[in-house]
Amino acid sequence: MKIKTVRGNWSWRMNKIAFPSVFLLCIFFFLAGFFGSTLFFQYHSQEDEHGLRQIQRPRTTRLLENLTEKETESHLLPAGETGDNFITTIPFQVLSWNPHALYFPNFATAEQCESIIETAKEGLKPSTLVLRVGETDESTTGIRTSSGVFISAFEDKTGVLDVIEEKIARATKIPRTHGEAFNVLRYKVGQKYSSHYDALHPDIYGPQKSQRMASFLLYLSDVPEGGETMFPFENGLNMDGSYYYEKCIGLKVKPRKGDGLLFYSLFPNGTIDPMSLHGSCPVIKGEKWVATKWIRDQVLDDEDTVFMPIPPPPPLER
Ligand SMILES: *[C@@H]1O[C@H](CO)[C@@H](O)[C@H](O)[C@H]1NC(C)=O
Ligand SMILES: *[C@@H]1O[C@H](CO)[C@@H](O)[C@H](O)[C@H]1NC(C)=O
Repeated sequence: MKIKTVRGNWSWRMNKIAFPSVFLLCIFFFLAGFFGSTLFFQYHSQEDEHGLRQIQRPRTTRLLENLTEKETESHLLPAGETGDNFITTIPFQVLSWNPHALYFPNFATAEQCESIIETAKEGLKPSTLVLRVGETDESTTGIRTSSGVFISAFEDKTGVLDVIEEKIARATKIPRTHGEAFNVLRYKVGQKYSSHYDALHPDIYGPQKSQRMASFLLYLSDVPEGGETMFPFENGLNMDGSYYYEKCIGLKVKPRKGDGLLFYSLFPNGTIDPMSLHGSCPVIKGEKWVATKWIRDQVLDDEDTVFMPIPPPPPLER
């Protein structure tokens, strides 16, 4: 009996002590949390004052829009004759270093994409290829099954291609004078472009006045299924000679309306990057529209800019 009473007292006492302790602990953690978060918040606010978020915010949420005066005044420098008096921010993701491939989300607006499609529809015809020695139009049927049209920025009365071309020049840091006319392509269900190089190898195509060094693709439509841009040799994969140029493998980039893809066909030393082999997977659902700009290593003259079709796949043994 006695033991029971003691035990009873003991547990009663524990309850008596435990309740205020827990209550105090609660208050302690509440206050610690409250002041802790305040300190944390102040820390971030301080970073704001140091300009960290001030610089970053426009980079992530805004595109080519000019920053406000307040945002730029501490960063702007006096520009040269051909420079800007504003800061350009174009976000991008490195998709691969082998080949050099960069992705530009929301590069163009939906309205700009629709306008380009409307402009292109007027002149659409089946896409052509640069022919190699011994090839005819007939022998290359099936390699590139899309329809396309070349449009120069100055030919587009809406002015949209002018804006896009200017933005591509900023994104690539290569002057507009190096770009060929836009090639706007439409791929319907089942249409594709087998793997190929955009660079023109002199052994295959003969001596060239200038070389295609980079390609900028602007996706003008969403494609529900298929139509990816693929790089089958990404990071040296599938380069053992077994690759068949129609196979849709490797790094695949899903077309999304308004997004841009930039990749380089040449290494910085000017030789062709074998990993820049790429193609367009067959469209399975929907329609794929894309505007391509090929960028040369030399300034183009008028003759070059108009109707310079892109090459067929490299010779491959099955
Ligand atoms: C940016 O500012 C320049 C002049 O400061 C102006 O010509 C240009 O249209 C502006 N761009 C945008 C996207 O507002
Ligand atoms: C050019 O650069 C590539 C990649 O860095 C390298 O593999 C190649 O050997 C270089 N070629 C010449 C001729 O320098």
